[in-house]
Amino acid sequence: MDARARLVLPLDVPSLEEAGGWLERLAGEVGVFKVGLELFTAAGPRAVEAVHEAGAACFLDLKLHDIPATMAKATRAAVQLGVRYLTVHAAAGPAALRAVAEETHGTATQLLAVTVLTSLDALELDAVGLAGPPEAAVERLGRLATEAGIDGLVCSPLECAPLRAALGDAPTLVVPGVRPAGSEKGDQRRTASPGEAIARGASLLVVGRPIRHAPDPAAAARAIVREIAEAAS
Ligand code: C5P
Repeated sequence: MDARARLVLPLDVPSLEEAGGWLERLAGEVGVFKVGLELFTAAGPRAVEAVHEAGAACFLDLKLHDIPATMAKATRAAVQLGVRYLTVHAAAGPAALRAVAEETHGTATQLLAVTVLTSLDALELDAVGLAGPPEAAVERLGRLATEAGIDGLVCSPLECAPLRAALGDAPTLVVPGVRPAGSEKGDQRRTASPGEAIARGASLLVVGRPIRHAPDPAAAARAIVREIAEAAS
């Protein structure tokens, strides 16, 4: 896969105007733009269309979690919008996962499952009734999702190698929390550099603030694409 198509820039902004500014500055450097809950709630499908009009692919990060029929209908709508990636929660269960996988079969949309949100630690997992170490839940939910026909998983850089060992080469692994050497970690704790994440088995990298807050965002994006290409060769 082309290195540019492996870099995802999250459009973590509140309006279509601000999203448009980033698309204008970075569509030449970044292959995929992520539209998340904030922008989609504010601007709706117009945000997805803006990504497509900029000539890039759209990653619609809605993390669907509902009953199977509702998730299937939302997935059908996302397929109609032409998004390349759509996220769902693995914890929605096997029936819901099979239902969404059926909706994307034979389309250009890939489904990605979130296993355990990285914001949850062992104590919080225990509080919602998921006992045991988070790593065990990640692997269990990852297996459940891929066996139900989900194309890939969102995971931390540290979860990549164990998930590859457990599930093999087929799943697309999408890794946020990536920090090029020398950049601020911000609120991300479990980080890796772009090259390290690719070496551990990541398929796509989600990199936001290290690009958006760089003095020259286009140059920062180009440097990450170069690092992805080098690590993949
Ligand atoms: O700015 P930064 O590079 O930290 O952005 C990371 C992006 O990945 C954000 O859009 C964030 O919501 C998302 N994300 C994350 N950690 C996860 C899942 C998604 O940071 N576990």
